Amino acid sequence: PLLAMEQEDAIRQELGSLHGIPLFKSFIEGWPQVKAFQAHPDDLLISTYPKSGTTWLSEILDMIYHNGNVEKCRRDAIYNRVPFLEMKVSKGPSGVEQLEKTPSPRLVKTHLPVQLLPTSFWEKDCKIIYMARNPKDVAISYYFFHQMAKIHPDPGTKAEFLENFMAGKVAYGSWYDHVRGWWEEKQEKKILYLFYEDMKKDPRREVQKILQFLGKELAEGTVEKILHHTSFQEMKKNPAANYETMLPTLMDHSLSPFLRKGISGDWKNHFTVAQNEHFNQHYQEHMAGSDLHFQME
Ligand code: PPS
Repeated sequence: PLLAMEQEDAIRQELGSLHGIPLFKSFIEGWPQVKAFQAHPDDLLISTYPKSGTTWLSEILDMIYHNGNVEKCRRDAIYNRVPFLEMKVSKGPSGVEQLEKTPSPRLVKTHLPVQLLPTSFWEKDCKIIYMARNPKDVAISYYFFHQMAKIHPDPGTKAEFLENFMAGKVAYGSWYDHVRGWWEEKQEKKILYLFYEDMKKDPRREVQKILQFLGKELAEGTVEKILHHTSFQEMKKNPAANYETMLPTLMDHSLSPFLRKGISGDWKNHFTVAQNEHFNQHYQEHMAGSDLHFQME
């Protein structure tokens, strides 16, 4: 384990800017290695805007890759089983270094907006699964994540954070640009575009979509096992999935657990009527002309 002091530079710093996208300064320092990353044709990229179901989708995919073997999926923490491509803090291996040590076929996590994805993923024609979540729940989840994950700047009040989120002044920038950018790319590329809300409503159907996309078949009992193991309740108590093995100086689960609520529509417990009206108006302006639609609960 790393000493708390060694990580102090990663704590509550202002964001830098990477090609116009707000991002952690330590990640920006590691950017040359990320940009030059060499993907393998059999890499599977899991791409999301933060707080959209990345960890859930990652656990599902690791289970699929291991034919529903729960013990194999407990071999390490999710952030090591599915390395985070652009992750870099001053001490410890970067995402790229982790990936270089990961045997193929690799699962790769990223939150990068589509225009910043290292070109190697396109050149190698890698399969990509994107998961999107409605922005009201993302904003609330992100707000609580800012409190517990100290790599982020202080979120301020909920009202202040909502304004920053809408303006794209948070790590990874505008949610609108992110979901729309990947949606438009989907027209031409091997991208399966999924929604958190669909996964909540009918996880079996979504897992079947993933299997079809991967060209993989599993026994019905195996799908059942995957659905059970990747339920919110199971993941919340699984130390290999719940991030509780992270350094407490980086994530403080007593402030807000990583697996916090795991539902659609929690924003209703947090938005005021005025905030909701303001958000709806902003949403309409920023989604105008798109055939991408979200279920808000
Ligand atoms: S991160 O840090 O961006 O990788 O976070 P990410 O994993 O994308 O998002 C975290 C939110 O996903 C919820 N989650 C789940 N919901 C339902 N079922 C399962 N199995 C599950 N696993 C994670 C998690 O609780 C966070 O959402 P909130 O709304 O904060 O609870």
